Amino acid sequence: MPAALGAVDGVSYYNDIRPLLQVHCSGCHQAANKMGGLEITSYAGILKGGAKYGSSIAKGTPENSPLLNLVTGKLEPRMPMGGTALSPDVIELITTWVREGAEDDTPVEAKAPQVPAQPPKYAQAPTITGMSYSPDGSLLAVGGFHEVLLLNADGSGIEARLLGRSDKIHSIDFSDDGTRLVAIGGTPARFGEVQVWDLQSRDLVHSVTATSDTLFAGDLSPDGKRAVFGAADKTVRMVDLETGDELFKAGHHEDWVLQAVFGIDGERIVSISRDRAAKLADADTGAFLENVNFLRDKLYAVARHPRRDYVLIGGEDRVPYMYTMDRPRALKIADDSTLIRKFEEQAGKIFALAFSPDGSRVAVGGVADEVPIYDTETAKRVATCKGHKGGIFVIAFHPDGSRLSTGGFDGMVRSYDTRTGEQLVSFVPVPIERAESSVDPEGTD
Ligand code: HEC
Repeated sequence: MPAALGAVDGVSYYNDIRPLLQVHCSGCHQAANKMGGLEITSYAGILKGGAKYGSSIAKGTPENSPLLNLVTGKLEPRMPMGGTALSPDVIELITTWVREGAEDDTPVEAKAPQVPAQPPKYAQAPTITGMSYSPDGSLLAVGGFHEVLLLNADGSGIEARLLGRSDKIHSIDFSDDGTRLVAIGGTPARFGEVQVWDLQSRDLVHSVTATSDTLFAGDLSPDGKRAVFGAADKTVRMVDLETGDELFKAGHHEDWVLQAVFGIDGERIVSISRDRAAKLADADTGAFLENVNFLRDKLYAVARHPRRDYVLIGGEDRVPYMYTMDRPRALKIADDSTLIRKFEEQAGKIFALAFSPDGSRVAVGGVADEVPIYDTETAKRVATCKGHKGGIFVIAFHPDGSRLSTGGFDGMVRSYDTRTGEQLVSFVPVPIERAESSVDPEGTD
């Protein structure tokens, strides 16, 4: 139902109103700033309205609609605040839309992206950014495109494919009791999502959406009830996994927050960001407690020691640093008193860090084509996992500590013996569709 040219009739929210609010109003009324408590970039936000007037429109009655009264100047301050008043035809267009009932004609496919009806087909292996072993070590969960694949841990086959709305998964965590899987990701420039799966029924229990961009890596609280993660809007967020409610968002960083982890007792969190900081915050309120590190360069990864409140951080400057979350004395400028140990400088930027389940080893991955394993106490290299191409984004230790798996740019899972660094197996975790097999799309594996 396109609006007839010239006639102010059949005004479309999606085609007419939404773009002009985007241009004139979204600078101050988007989710990130919400001036006057109003988020104007979505239909739901307009209906919900702001702090002073409630709903910004009264369907059918333009004269009772705060939004219109504010753009005409009947109400002060006139919108757009401090800017040029909207032209009479723009105001007329909004007026007509409201008088006609202010309907939302957003097409279904432009609304929240849907869960694909069929498992995705792959012409090549997608980059792996999320991967984790189940607590009993029997399954390896790997993030694909619009899905999480549950594989037999030895790579011998696919157990299940958990289809979701997010294009990409940035981290996967199992609850300690193995009943839940939490996948965090999203679709760039569209939305972020936390998926909570019941592993018994393989049902999606919650899909919690947050921000208008993808979410980055996170962690589960020790009791498995909450998930913390970082986001592109510079926030750290906490979600209740039972209710699906967002508990808080904390804005202590100045750039993308790429990962967050819980402390041992679940009462504190550490987040790392491209702003170079690792920050300690209260896990109940998100309140900032302390800076953990001395600022050096952009940070891309953090891992917490399984038995102590130590965090390993790394990024642009290629050195893994281990810090304690408990500062021995008050912070001074350029103070690095929380640094416990530095590890060997890597051949490239660091994107992935992991402790072995008993905490005795750390593994480091990134742009370099090897994944070294170090003794946590001595910082000495004890093994080297080789054969990578094009960057490692995730490292997962098997729960018994004997193996670790890596994933990254080339879409291959590689498993190694952690004592010797010997490669045990490598495989593509998704079924690859050969071009000529289009006649029989089901016969892939
Ligand atoms: C430069 C920033 C800015 C721009 C641009 C702007 N606004 Fe506002 N808007 C504000 C502020 C600040 C408030 C709160 C004003 C107050 O309550 O004193 C507000 C309040 C409102 C409210 C009332 C919310 C409530 O219930 O309290 C509405 C409706 C509104 N704006 C609509 C618009 C529309 C429509 C546009 C675009 C045509 C627009 N605004 C552009 C800053 C802006």
